[in-house]
Amino acid sequence: MLRNKKKKENPYLQENYAPVTEQIDETNLEVIGQIPQDLSGLFVRNGPNPMNSPKPAKYHWFSGQGMLHGVRLDSGNALWYRNRSVSANGNSPNTHVISHAGKIYAIVESGGVPVEIDAELGSLSDAPFQGTLKRGFTAHSKLDAATGELHGICYDFARGYCLQHIVVGKDDRVRQTQVIDLPGRPMVHDCAITENYVLILDLSITFNWVRLVRGYFPMAWNDKHQARIGLLNRKNTSAEIKWFDIDPCFIFHPFNAFEDAAGNVVFDAMRYQRIFDQDWNGPFTESPPLLTRWQLDISKGTAAEQQLDDRPAEFPRIHPSLEGREHRFGYALGLGKSSVKPEFSSIIKYDFTQNSSEVHELGADKMGAEPVFVPVEQAESEDQGYLLSYVFDRRDNKSSLLIVNAQDMAAGAVAEIKLPQRVPFGFHGSWVPSC
Ligand SMILES: [Fe+2]
Repeated sequence: MLRNKKKKENPYLQENYAPVTEQIDETNLEVIGQIPQDLSGLFVRNGPNPMNSPKPAKYHWFSGQGMLHGVRLDSGNALWYRNRSVSANGNSPNTHVISHAGKIYAIVESGGVPVEIDAELGSLSDAPFQGTLKRGFTAHSKLDAATGELHGICYDFARGYCLQHIVVGKDDRVRQTQVIDLPGRPMVHDCAITENYVLILDLSITFNWVRLVRGYFPMAWNDKHQARIGLLNRKNTSAEIKWFDIDPCFIFHPFNAFEDAAGNVVFDAMRYQRIFDQDWNGPFTESPPLLTRWQLDISKGTAAEQQLDDRPAEFPRIHPSLEGREHRFGYALGLGKSSVKPEFSSIIKYDFTQNSSEVHELGADKMGAEPVFVPVEQAESEDQGYLLSYVFDRRDNKSSLLIVNAQDMAAGAVAEIKLPQRVPFGFHGSWVPSC
């Protein structure tokens, strides 16, 4: 009798999750609309692009090699699009690409070493921060605009679990490394800062030996692990971390955190009820990410949780100078109606002060990505700027770079720059001005 050996399809290798195989340079880009004259610089985004033909059953979306997709804008013109694999001495960070102290770095968590990138997207070296980084970094650092310093909560599985708070100075050198002892081995994808604290997200996904040994992505939901948020004192490294137990959940991405007038901490993030449990390949099939606010009462040691929106959304961004300070506006990619197969169908703008929102619908057959907010120079209000996002169009199997006026979300895009190929669904990017 013939056994049915039909292989299970992995959705994170299908359609626009699938890798692109060519590295392209294109200078002749069709533009619909008008690129703002005051938008000169490089838009660059990182994401997984598994070129090594992974086994579909075991491939996890977070594990493909990094590939950068960039568009260079100058005084109303789109000068070029190009895509490049991230590669330096075997390191291929796939999660984010940031600009700091005049340098560009592709970064990843869990012990991966950042790779310095040039303005043409070429990989330069794996000796980041002037060679001062001793271990891995993080997928998400937070910029304190007042000091010019980057803060990261970093962990490293390659050399035993070690959680660290790392500060990179505005001179591009690591200026502080503080080891944080934890009873478990949580996945810590991101963090948040306030004026006095760094928030440590010790949540319900932990390192899992069984999955590692079986060749799978080694992070799994863990009911036995108490979810909690820690406040690490930024100004007194000998102070004990204040921990706040919260209900089981996972957070990849905070919007932001800040201290209110009473000195308590307000924390906004996209909350998952349960993931990496039954689905071993990616994040989007078990529960939707929902905008949630936690208020941490310092004197009582308690955390109050409130869901702020019932529309699934991810990849939250704010004004880049407001990390750690109270934000009024935030932007995220709306995932659409389905909680098990995201449609990436809109860009949502939240007004946290007015408790309202506006939506830019991307349109039929179009699927967006993280909306990066780029403020205009000498802006007179927090939301004066543009949202940049790669948008995939199913009809021609190609992508565009969309530019939306953040103060007029319902209007059509200011400009749509047609790209010569599709940009696979990926993770995070940055605007590098005057690049
Ligand atoms: Fe992320």
